[in-house]
Amino acid sequence: MGSRIAVFGTGYLGATHAACMAELGHEVIGVDVDESKLAKLAAGEAPFFEPGLDEVLQANIDAGRLNFTSSYAEAAEFADIHFIGVATPQRRGEFAADVNFVDSVVATLAPLLTRPSVIFGKSTVPVGTAARLGAMARELSSLGDAVEVAWNPEFLREGFAVKDTLHPDRIVLGVDVMTPGRAEEAAREVYADILAEGVPFLVTDRETAELVKTAANAFLATKISFINAMAEVCEAAGADVSELADAIGYDARIGRRFLNAGIGFGGGCLPKDIRAFMARAGELGANQALTFLREVDSINMRRRTRMMEMTREVAGGSLIGARVAVLGAAFKPDSDDIRDSPALNIAGQIQLQGASVTVYDPKAIENSRTLFPTLGYAADVREACDGADITLVLTEWEEFRRLEPAYLDSIVRQRRIIDGRNCLDQAKWRGAGWEYRGVGRR
Ligand code: UGA
Repeated sequence: MGSRIAVFGTGYLGATHAACMAELGHEVIGVDVDESKLAKLAAGEAPFFEPGLDEVLQANIDAGRLNFTSSYAEAAEFADIHFIGVATPQRRGEFAADVNFVDSVVATLAPLLTRPSVIFGKSTVPVGTAARLGAMARELSSLGDAVEVAWNPEFLREGFAVKDTLHPDRIVLGVDVMTPGRAEEAAREVYADILAEGVPFLVTDRETAELVKTAANAFLATKISFINAMAEVCEAAGADVSELADAIGYDARIGRRFLNAGIGFGGGCLPKDIRAFMARAGELGANQALTFLREVDSINMRRRTRMMEMTREVAGGSLIGARVAVLGAAFKPDSDDIRDSPALNIAGQIQLQGASVTVYDPKAIENSRTLFPTLGYAADVREACDGADITLVLTEWEEFRRLEPAYLDSIVRQRRIIDGRNCLDQAKWRGAGWEYRGVGRR
């Protein structure tokens, strides 16, 4: 018999977690305040694009293991194990994370609990949040110590969310070391099938678990900014950053993954997580330890300006009146997520310079139009590139990687392409008579 689980929040994290826990054989109820999201999910459709997720949703709904509700009372009645998967966005005008959604899950749920329960936090939170929520839950619940809060950070990547959840690199669990309860045992039950595959399971205190997550994202962000800094030097020195990355990447201590230079990192995680990490370290009196992340952030943001400038250079010094085709709007391929997307940021900057910009993305057009209604949008590559003076590839979708110069030859006005992700074969494009510019490439 599986466990009875509630998952609070049905965004990228929560919806995936709910579906995958049902896939592991548990009985799951997904909880959200947004009725329109719930209606979609109940029909087996994720409210965002994530490869393979709809199939897992549908299969488990059909099997009767997965349901959705907006009622906390129903969730409290149904489950003994609760996962928090709500968002912790950047606070407006500040670096710190906004933990209001996480707080309100505990504040609403704790008084409704009728039997011993474990609340596992999955959201990325400032270190110290779990202990604070643990105390809050105990205070608000008549069950006292029988309600535990543990932290079980999530490391899934969008685009690989199902695979990362069912086959993670590791499972990290932070428990209350002062009053150890059932949390570890409950996690071992929930993740039994995954642990049986030999996936490492690390049990720590809650603070360490919270920090593992932020440290991992800070490291990844640093790795990307490192290679983007190298791209700047390569451009100045007439060297090639892709060859450099290949060569240093063979050193197993460095590794080739996450060493792709380009327009930098975006999305709902890395940018806000490094900022929240700096803010939290400051509160703890350890701000000096993370001042380098400020530089990581600046290198990253500079990529966006640099890409606009490169486009202006290619246009001959001015973008006024130029027609620019932007291929890609999502912050990365296989996602329709445009939160802090470098591609859209660049498209906006180019438009502000007086160009007429037309954007195409295989999945993210609808979200983009809502956020940036003033940009032009196209239904496909041909329409976006129609009459273009410059074509930019800003998200490395497979569809764009496979583009053949001949396909665009007769559509564009000028054969000029800028590869913001170094994902095209430059020899092919140059060989076909195109002016090709990459990032940190000769
Ligand atoms: C990231 C982490 O990779 C996950 O482990 C983590 O769970 C997640 O954040 C989170 O905190 O929820 P994600 O935001 O889905 O996952 O995206 P990544 O694959 O990390 O890519 C982030 C950004 O970095 C993208 O804009 C991508 O284009 C960029 N990137 C990535 C590069 O510019 N170069 C690279 O070599 C790799």
